[in-house]
Amino acid sequence: MSSTNQEDFGRTPMQGQTINNLLQWGDHLSVGHPEIDAQHKEIYEFGAEIYESWRDGVRVGQLRIATDRLLGLLRAHFLYEERLLAGIGYGDLKQHVAEHRSMLKELQGMREHFDTLSDDDDSPGGSVLSPNWSVMQFILGFSLGHVMTSDMNYRQSLVAGGKAPKPTA
Ligand SMILES: [Fe+2]
Ligand SMILES: [Fe+2]
Repeated sequence: MSSTNQEDFGRTPMQGQTINNLLQWGDHLSVGHPEIDAQHKEIYEFGAEIYESWRDGVRVGQLRIATDRLLGLLRAHFLYEERLLAGIGYGDLKQHVAEHRSMLKELQGMREHFDTLSDDDDSPGGSVLSPNWSVMQFILGFSLGHVMTSDMNYRQSLVAGGKAPKPTA
C-alpha cells in the first residue's frame, strides 16, 4: 500500500512518461543477437515494473524480492554475454566484465542494506529518499550507462565474429 502519491512530490505526468521512455526497450537498443536482445528486453521490462513500484510506493519486503529477481536476471545475463564475447575474442572483454562485476557488487550492497530494514517498512512512493530510489538509479544506470553504451560497443564485433547479421541501415 502506498503511503504517498506522486502529487505529493509535485511530479508531472510528463516526468513519469520520460522515465518510462528511458526504460522502454526497442529496436534502437538491439545488438543484433536475438538471445541477448531478449535478455535485455526482459531486464528493461522488469525495470519498468521497478519504476512503477518506486512511483507508487512499496513495502521493503517486496523490494527485497524485486532486488533478488533483478540480481538473478543480471547474473544470468552477464554470464551469457561474457561467454558469447569471449567466444569471439572481444578485445574489450576485460573492461566489460569489470563493469558487470561492479554493477553486481553495487546491487548486492543495496540488497544487504535492505536486510537491515524491516519487511513492513515503507519505501514511500515517488520519493528520492525512499529505499527504492537506489534501485531506480541503478536500473537507469544499467539502461543508459551500460546497455546504451558498453553493450552497443560490441555490436560490430558480433557482426565481425559471425554472431549477428550486418545492419541493413
Ligand atoms: Fe554487458
Ligand atoms: Fe548486456
